[in-house]
Amino acid sequence: MVKEHQIIAGNFDLAGRASSDLKRLLKSMATYPRLYVNRVCSASYEAEINIVIHSVGGYMTYEVNEANIELNFFDDGPGIPDIELAMKKGYSTASQIAHLNGFGAGMGLNNIKELSDRLTIHSTPRGTHLKMIFTIGERDA
Ligand SMILES: Nc1ncnc2c1ncn2[C@@H]1O[C@H](COP(=O)(O)OP(=O)(O)OP(=O)(O)O)[C@@H](O)[C@H]1O
Ligand SMILES: [Mg+2]
Repeated sequence: MVKEHQIIAGNFDLAGRASSDLKRLLKSMATYPRLYVNRVCSASYEAEINIVIHSVGGYMTYEVNEANIELNFFDDGPGIPDIELAMKKGYSTASQIAHLNGFGAGMGLNNIKELSDRLTIHSTPRGTHLKMIFTIGERDA
């Protein structure tokens, strides 16, 4: 099953919608441990919010299999110039509006790294692609 969900830049009312739709789907399947669903959806939420507050917009896709879940997030720029720096705890370029909405602690990418089992990030000025894979493991029991 592969599904797609649009993510609109700067829209704080819709921010998080893609990840909550995913959460609803995963819960309804009753296949996965609760901790696993929380882990997948927390990482999804961080990546979704990053598209809302840092990019011009994009979308996510989710591929749900019995043994693993793959999430892909694509946006149309402006990209992350220095990924290593962006991964550092506390590093943030979030705008004032993003801060007023409770974002911008500089923890999102770090959390995604911790929460996922495999993460790859590709970024150019034309856009950023995050790919995450989640496998059910000991920490989900
Ligand atoms: N999709 C993206 N496009 C462009 N820049 C991004 C994107 N995602 C992250 N970044 C850059 O990486 C930095 C770190 O991202 P991270 O998610 O860790 O923190 P944050 O979004 O600033 O704050 P938090 O996630 O804690 O609310 C961002 O401040 C931004 O500069
Ligand atoms: Mg973030």
